[in-house]
Amino acid sequence: MHERVAAIATLAFAACGGSDPGARGLPPATTTTAPRDPSVIAAEPQRAGDAARGWAALTGEGYVGCGAPRALYDRFAGLADEGWRLPGRTGRGADLPYFANAYTAPSGVELVTANCLGCHASFLRGELVIGLGDATADFTFDVTPMLAAGGTLTSDAVEQAELGKLLGRVRALAPHMKTRVVGANPADHIAAVLFAHRDPETLAWSDEPLIELPLEEPIPVDVPAWWLLKKKTAMFHTGAGRGDQSRIMMTASVLCVDDVASARAVDAYFPDIRAFVLSLEPPRFPGAIDAPLAARGQAVFERTCARCHGTYGPDGRYQTRVIAQSIVGTDPELARHAGQFAAPFRTWFNDSFYGEIARLEAHDGYVAPPLDGIWATAPYLHNGSVPTLAALLDSSLRPTRSIIGRGRDAYDLDAVGWRSFPVDHIPGIDARWIYDTTVPGYSSAGHTFADGLTADDRRNLLEYLKSL
Ligand code: HEC
Ligand code: HEC
Repeated sequence: MHERVAAIATLAFAACGGSDPGARGLPPATTTTAPRDPSVIAAEPQRAGDAARGWAALTGEGYVGCGAPRALYDRFAGLADEGWRLPGRTGRGADLPYFANAYTAPSGVELVTANCLGCHASFLRGELVIGLGDATADFTFDVTPMLAAGGTLTSDAVEQAELGKLLGRVRALAPHMKTRVVGANPADHIAAVLFAHRDPETLAWSDEPLIELPLEEPIPVDVPAWWLLKKKTAMFHTGAGRGDQSRIMMTASVLCVDDVASARAVDAYFPDIRAFVLSLEPPRFPGAIDAPLAARGQAVFERTCARCHGTYGPDGRYQTRVIAQSIVGTDPELARHAGQFAAPFRTWFNDSFYGEIARLEAHDGYVAPPLDGIWATAPYLHNGSVPTLAALLDSSLRPTRSIIGRGRDAYDLDAVGWRSFPVDHIPGIDARWIYDTTVPGYSSAGHTFADGLTADDRRNLLEYLKSL
């Protein structure tokens, strides 16, 4: 407990400190020399944490600050199927699905609340993989009908107040979070809307937005795998997340954590959650890998790809680089600062409690991510526009309009990724299932670095990528 108190005290000082990390009582950065390559992002000081405590907090605390009263939840949702529970979770959350936590709110009501795993865990070939970004979540539905029913569900005044808080936030979000297709994740938009409803200094909620809304429609953003974070010196596809990563990760608290003291209490255990995230390893490729082909693929990789993506294996070396959008050529919308990365929302973040030791920066490019476990993280690119690695390596194979298969058997270990079906000739299909690369934000253009290779080189490269 004492280190938590110490962390809170340090942060209280950090609030009025200058920009020198040393002056804020934080440990010095591991690399202090400026990188010679300007695209490389230097490491910044991070708070240490304990991974085991982080797992307990991740799956047991109420860091979003609101939820549905447990009694109501049990009446409507019932017990989660065995396959949806977290293996090894004990206590009151044991019978909840993996994406929900149970905790007692300050009002004394037991709540069921969303945790991070709703977006940061996913089933792959029938198995739940913690840290794998969920590419199947459905944010296309309209949540407003749920709101109408909400208030009538309980006659208990304290439960009604808890439910009312949750529904108020959902009401603010509803017009802005509906995505065009299943699998697209609106998290960057959700964050922006919630920033807009809060005073940056006090974090007090305002029913009226304090920053002008509406935003444009959410663009698709693919959820990055958590096991990559240990190599990264900047968070998010654009590299916009700088400074203390634990503080950025707790931004989920902007949903319902309404004052700075409560936010500090959450912040105190987020270094533990970060330590858990850093402890994750990528899953291994489950099929056979042709070693001689992969060895040839490694040579191609080191010649063609390593300058941006680093090298792998025991002597592997990776540095986080932001590559200009004009060079990588992928869809420009996110790099043009969509959602929380637009100027007014960056300013909110940087001026707020969250900005005390972290910041959002604008960069017109994308991080060339580490490729560990890349076989498991389809669809590819920041917007999930490329269903397989084979299509990433050969842009002529990328579908224009397709349905991306997402069932247990839809993962293709040869092309490495999700099977997809072109849909131009199938009339009457629900548009929510069609990934249309002609819509702004959805383009699968760019990253053609392997197009110029021979078919053999691409084949070998694909074999090598399976081994990472
Ligand atoms: C509604 C879905 C959603 C929830 C809930 C969510 N995230 Fe995320 N998370 C995302 C998306 C989408 C991104 C990528 C955004 C981008 O790069 O623009 C992301 C990015 C991240 C990253 C950066 C990864 C990287 O490699 O750059 C971390 C770390 C992270 N989230 C941790 C968390 C934690 C911890 C929680 C819970 C407190 C959480 N997230 C809750 C959707 C979500
Ligand atoms: C000039 C730098 C650069 C080079 C060279 C490069 N890449 Fe990339 N790569 C990027 C960037 C930047 C992204 C992210 C683009 C985005 O998400 O829009 C990326 C994304 C990827 C992804 C998708 C990652 C994901 O999680 O979705 C894969 C796979 C990949 N690259 C493999 C390769 C391979 C294989 C090569 C060599 C043939 C290569 N790259 C060459 C910069 C580069």
